[in-house]
Amino acid sequence: MELKKIGVVGCGLMGGGIAQVAAEAGYQVVVREINQELLAKGMNVIRGNLARNVEKGRMTQQAMDDTLARLKGTTELADFKDRDMVIEAIFEDIEEKKKLFATLDGICRPDAILASNTSSLTVVEMAAATKRASKVVGIHFFSPVPVMKLVEIVKTIVTSDDTLETAVNFGKTVGKTVVTAKDLPGFIVNRLLIPFLIDAARVYGEGLATREDIDAAIALGLNHPMGPLTLMDFVGIDITVHAADALYREYGDPRYAAPPILRRMLLAGHVGRKTGKGFYEYTK
Ligand code: CAA
Repeated sequence: MELKKIGVVGCGLMGGGIAQVAAEAGYQVVVREINQELLAKGMNVIRGNLARNVEKGRMTQQAMDDTLARLKGTTELADFKDRDMVIEAIFEDIEEKKKLFATLDGICRPDAILASNTSSLTVVEMAAATKRASKVVGIHFFSPVPVMKLVEIVKTIVTSDDTLETAVNFGKTVGKTVVTAKDLPGFIVNRLLIPFLIDAARVYGEGLATREDIDAAIALGLNHPMGPLTLMDFVGIDITVHAADALYREYGDPRYAAPPILRRMLLAGHVGRKTGKGFYEYTK
């Protein structure tokens, strides 16, 4: 299937990034937020990212203007009725996602693809909320979306070959390297990343070393762009615990069990960069 018109549900960190890279790649994009304030905030981030690209000589002013002309914001899901594919990037709550998929199923053309950017929920559960399960697929981007070069395409046991191929082509067209995974919790990246991250929290909780030394050891000893505690603050302790819980629920393997320190940080609201405090403190 040839895609031209894309819808993105959510204009936060992930949705905004997806809308940006899709519009940059030439797709006509409609991005939806729940209110004008959040929409304006998300669109401003996209404008800022594009302006920085122009400033740095990575993009012409004309290309920026053309990208913005292809990008429309809305607060109405009904504006997805003519889309070829809609990608949801709302928060990681399966009940909310199922509700959204059922609503989109009623709004979108019968041949439209519905995709989820979930990092740890089960895609087939969302597919089952629709009458087009074969047209539901996972398209998982990484944060920050404009910078990270990977997209994981997730094939459920009912995703059609055509849907899979269309999603793979979409990932390539937006300039990413595409990997394909089964609809198993964590897919490839989070299946391997989450045990590493929660282990870092565990050893920090045990007092193995300071937060700075744990991060420096991994960043410099393994050439990672960020140490694991910094990365958890960046991704969010909430997202990390949520992904760990999803893996633990499915596999019952203790290596996926989030350590008490992470749950206590969550209870205290120390969620990471977005709340100004996680393993480290952040000021604007
Ligand atoms: N949006 C757009 N561009 C961004 C950005 C953002 N949020 N954050 C950084 N950038 C750009 C910057 O503009 C900068 O480009 P220029 O200076 O050339 O304009 C470039 O990225 C590098 O940024 P910085 O110089 O500020 O800092 P850095 O070199 O430390 O890079 C980083 C920042 C790209 C975030 C880097 O630290 C990194 O790659 N960190 C690891 C990120 C990672 O692992 N992400 C995956 C998380 S897991 C996930 O997302 C999946 C999940 O399901 C949980």
